[in-house]
Amino acid sequence: MECFKVIGGRKFDGKTRNIASKNAILPILACCLAISGEVVLRNCPRLSDIDAMLDIIRATGGRAEWDSGNIVVDCTQSEPRDIGAELTGNIRSSVFVLGPLLTRFSTASVSYPGGCDIGLRPIDLHISGLRKLGAEVIDEGRKISVDGKNMRNSAVFLDFPSVGATENLIMASLLKSGKTIIHNPAREPEIVDLADFINLAGGKVLGAGGNVIVVEGVNKLNGCEYFPMPDRIVAGTLMIASAIAEGDSVIENVDLRHLGSLTDMLSRCGVGITSYRDSVRVRAKKRPKAIGKTETQPYPGFPTDLQAQFVAFSAYCDGCSVMIENLFESRFKYVGELLRTGADITVRDRVAVVRGKKSLSGAEMEAGDLRGGAALVLAALGARGESVIKGLKHIDRGYERLENALSALGADIKRTKM
Ligand code: EPZ
Repeated sequence: MECFKVIGGRKFDGKTRNIASKNAILPILACCLAISGEVVLRNCPRLSDIDAMLDIIRATGGRAEWDSGNIVVDCTQSEPRDIGAELTGNIRSSVFVLGPLLTRFSTASVSYPGGCDIGLRPIDLHISGLRKLGAEVIDEGRKISVDGKNMRNSAVFLDFPSVGATENLIMASLLKSGKTIIHNPAREPEIVDLADFINLAGGKVLGAGGNVIVVEGVNKLNGCEYFPMPDRIVAGTLMIASAIAEGDSVIENVDLRHLGSLTDMLSRCGVGITSYRDSVRVRAKKRPKAIGKTETQPYPGFPTDLQAQFVAFSAYCDGCSVMIENLFESRFKYVGELLRTGADITVRDRVAVVRGKKSLSGAEMEAGDLRGGAALVLAALGARGESVIKGLKHIDRGYERLENALSALGADIKRTKM
């Protein structure tokens, strides 16, 4: 089994390049199921979540392959086959295939999605939204079968701005006549990227990123070539890593417009953030100051996907920090592992209280989910001595060779066999 071995305390003085966004690429790949034609996605990272989505596309009869750093997909031959749990159970984004299959074939049958163990993660908003569009949904507990022959584009109001439900409803409306109006949609940049891809393919999606999205049905979507947006969560993770390690780092391929909340928070801690055209420089020369209370919120609020990493950073800050997790019910499981470093963190339900320490000790820790695993690596960067982080299969879902990116910045981290 593989693990990371980290020798903490190395100040950063380097440059690395951020990858394209997993959470933009996954819905875009699902959307290809509604397109008869070849789609090329440029400069994509080799992540297990992306490979899982490519397997789903192949299971429908579509073609999906890597061509060095590019993904080539052609769903011309795809059919609405039943997609089983062995394919959908690894990733949350498998639920995104409902929309494109319904809009193209008016039928879909998908086993329940998987994904990180960070909460209940129901799909009721997906189901209620599809029903609002006229779909007949049979929820068989572990599988969803949908009859979409009576679906019509219409108005839908989301009770919560769910990212996945917004993406599913956009895609369910692409090839149906008339307009779908989505009220209270998610406003994440990944929604905008999906809309930009769809519009390039000949679709009509207006208002993505705002508080009303209008989808105007078209007859056909065409193959195209697309460069997915930079991954704002990987970029934020590397920025926080740079703040923990101290020193001077440059991270290329970053759209800092997507990271306003993190940038503000790190600046208030005393970390120097300088934005260049498509990169960011992070300078941390002294122990950062705690900034008190932070809450995770839907975009543009502080992202839940950076919560664990920021808690790891807070464990080093001078002062007391409070992190409130508003999006998921159980997204503090990684804290139990973090405590092995001597971190002073108390968790009650959705609140973590962190009393920062000048130094922590290296420890053996195990990742249990994607972003919690990244947080363990970040804590190890600032700890005294050696840390071993196991459970790399979780981290590899969303970070392409994280050890290479951190080594380029100056970390002493190696991927090795246990
Ligand atoms: C997406 O998940 C991301 N995943 C998640 O990133 C991210 O944490 C999340 O959005 C929030 O930003 C992908 O894009 C593949 P939601 P998604 O629907 O779509 C509840 C990562 O680390 N909810 O916005 O599943 C849900 O339980 C992953 O890259 C319902 O109640 O998120 C949660 O509490 C982790 N019913 C909240 O809404 C539903 O039908 C936000 O979920 C759907 C969601």
